[in-house]
Amino acid sequence: MELKITGSKIVIADDSPTIVSKLELMLKKQGYQVFSALDGEKCLQLVSEVDPDLILLDLDMPKVNGLDVCKVIRHDEKTSLTPVIILTASGSKDDKNRALAAGANDMLYKNYDNIELKLKVESLLKLKYAIDQLENANNIIKSLAKTVEVKDKYTVGHAERVSFIATTIARKMKFHEAQLKDITMAGLLHDIGKIGVPDLILNKEGKLTDEEFTIIKNHPVIGEEICNPIKSFEKVKQIIRHHHEKLNGKGYPDGLKGDQINIETRIMTVADIYDALTSDRSYRKSMTKEDAFNILKSLVERDEIDGSIVSVLEKVV
Ligand SMILES: [Fe+2]
Repeated sequence: MELKITGSKIVIADDSPTIVSKLELMLKKQGYQVFSALDGEKCLQLVSEVDPDLILLDLDMPKVNGLDVCKVIRHDEKTSLTPVIILTASGSKDDKNRALAAGANDMLYKNYDNIELKLKVESLLKLKYAIDQLENANNIIKSLAKTVEVKDKYTVGHAERVSFIATTIARKMKFHEAQLKDITMAGLLHDIGKIGVPDLILNKEGKLTDEEFTIIKNHPVIGEEICNPIKSFEKVKQIIRHHHEKLNGKGYPDGLKGDQINIETRIMTVADIYDALTSDRSYRKSMTKEDAFNILKSLVERDEIDGSIVSVLEKVV
C-alpha cells in the first residue's frame, strides 16, 4: 500500500519565533502544509480549526505548556489518535517520561539534525495515514449496517439498540475499554449479513418456509465475510458469526456448545433477543419487559443462553 503523506497538515507550537520559522521552512520543503502558533492556547485553537495530521509541540510554552496541550489533544475524541512530537531543550529522562505520560508519540531534542526530524515526521505521518484509512473503513462498514435497516422496516434502530444494550451489560461486568469497543462495533454490525438476504424474505409476514429460513440462517456467515478484510476486527467477526449459536449446541451456523461460545458473543445474543422481543416485528407486536424476561428465562432453562448475563441485563434495563 502506498502511503500518501505529501500535503499532510502539520501544526507547530513553540514560543521561539526563530525555531518556528526554521521548522516551517524545513517542513514546507518536504511538501507539507504548515500552521504555526507561538503559545499553547493558540496551538489548541489551530488544532481544532485545521485538524492536523501531526503536531510538533514545545515542552515549555507560555499560557498552556506543551504537556497540557498534549493532554487536551489526547482527551479530545477528534484528535486522540493524532501523532504528537514534543520538542525539548533539555532532553532529560524526566522530561521524556513526562512527555510520554502526557501521550506524546515521540520526543525531539532541540539540537536535532534535519534528517532525524524528517524521518520522525515521516514515520508518524505514515502512522496517521494508516489510522485514517482504518477509520474510513470503519465508517463505510457502519453505513453498510444502516442499509440493513432500510431493507427491513421492522429493524429500524435495532442494531444501535443491541449495540447499546450489549455494551451496557459488558460495562456492568467490568470489561475493559478495548473489549467494550469490540462489543459496540459488533452490536452495530451483527446483522450486516442480512444485506445478502432478499427483501421479500426479510419482510415476509407469517411463517418462513424451511428454504427461506436456510437463507436467513446464512446471514452470520455473510456478515463475517463482509468484515473479513479488517484485521482489527478479529473479535468483532467472531461475535458476528456466532450471535445465533446456543449453549446447548442447537444454534447456527456452527452448532457451537457451551464454552466454545465466548462471553462477548453470549452477551450479544442476549442483547439481540431482548431487543427483538421488546420491539415490533413483522410477525408480532412488541412485548412488555416482564414478558420478555419470562421468555429469556425459559431460554436459560432450555440451555440456549447464559443465565448470568440475563441477570446482569435485569439490573441494567
Ligand atoms: Fe442476526
